[in-house]
Amino acid sequence: MSIEKKTTLLIKNIGQLVTLAGVAPRYGTAMNDLGLIENGGIAVAGEEILAVGKSDEVEGHSPLAEHCTVIDADGAVVTPGLIDPHTHPVFSMTREKEFEMRVQGKTYMEIARSGGGIRASVRDLRTTPAEVLKEKTRKRLDTLLKHGITTLEAKSGYGLSTEAEIKSLEIIRDLNEVHPIDLIPTFLGAHEIPDEYHDDVEGYIKLISEDMLPQVMEGKLAEFSDIFCEEGVFDIDQSRRIQSAARQAGLKLKFHADELKSTGGAELAASMKAVSADHLVYVSEEGIKALARSGTVAVLLPGTTFSLGGKQYAPARKMIESGVVVALSTDCNPGSSYTESLSIIVSLAVLQMKMTTAEAITAVTVNAACAVDRAGKIGQLIPGMLADIVIWDMADYRELSYHYGVNLARKIIKRGKLVVKE
Ligand code: NIG
Ligand code: FE
Repeated sequence: MSIEKKTTLLIKNIGQLVTLAGVAPRYGTAMNDLGLIENGGIAVAGEEILAVGKSDEVEGHSPLAEHCTVIDADGAVVTPGLIDPHTHPVFSMTREKEFEMRVQGKTYMEIARSGGGIRASVRDLRTTPAEVLKEKTRKRLDTLLKHGITTLEAKSGYGLSTEAEIKSLEIIRDLNEVHPIDLIPTFLGAHEIPDEYHDDVEGYIKLISEDMLPQVMEGKLAEFSDIFCEEGVFDIDQSRRIQSAARQAGLKLKFHADELKSTGGAELAASMKAVSADHLVYVSEEGIKALARSGTVAVLLPGTTFSLGGKQYAPARKMIESGVVVALSTDCNPGSSYTESLSIIVSLAVLQMKMTTAEAITAVTVNAACAVDRAGKIGQLIPGMLADIVIWDMADYRELSYHYGVNLARKIIKRGKLVVKE
């Protein structure tokens, strides 16, 4: 006999309940399907969603537990907790000087090649005590959570020595244990070539394959491996070799691909059956076709074009029309996109890449779940899935893009617990 579950959290009178119920991933016209329920309700039992439907039906669905939390949404919009599938949150030093240099005309690569950029962050991270780094990262997670993000992919990549990469991944592991946000760790030892290997890229590839990867696996410190596949960083052949070693070690793959130039990164990611290929500002026609065929999720990061002061955004419309699964992310990092707001990214996607608001919401929920290999667990409000929920200060979901530059997330529920009250 099954024991009837009791409702531990009830949200009623939801004006627009954005469930995203249905297929995952969503591509083509299905990206516009929000699974919207007007005057909806959600019942939660423990960490999981118990019932979703019309408010009055859900209220009578099952008995309320003794200390059940009841929230009257008063006509507001409710969505799944947002998922940010591409961030670099473990850093100490910020790089506003470079930001100003770019505004005055220097390019990202010029600054990087003259010793700034990622390598400047690396010099800083290596000398910053782990406790200081952890505290700064924790504060960043607090800000991300307040913006409605309940799951975050988090990369290392500012260490670039075995010791400093492990230090970064251990911070991600430790924070995952204590912070409401669920963190998905990605090893990004191939983010850049560190100063000491400047004239010996092969030596650095060997270090990644033979020293870093075994230690990362030994400590169970990562689920994905990522790489900066770009002209002047890791070329196609080097990227293939590094990612083959990572896959052989047991990691799933992600790529920074075609961010600053078209190099065939998307094609490589698709051919290696990567879970995602990210950036894709300069993706080729062939690359788009390859992504559509392989089902590799395209994670677009319009905050990067915006913050680098660029004009060209990733061709989102073309990708959606070609059947590519599109997700969106902040790319939160101190260099190319320093923001914790996925709502701003949604506004940029709509205004600059001509996505509909519904497509953009799909891209930060159900499709973002696919970009971190969590389809069927998060990103949709369906009974049995995790109760990660945001109540927004808006009556129409389109305000998420239209009412830009302010944080409209009000109440945030993570694994069935109210973790941000107002
Ligand atoms: O996604 N492109 C490589 N990595 C980051 C930038 C990192 C940095 O500049 O610190 C990105 O744009
Ligand atoms: Fe990135």
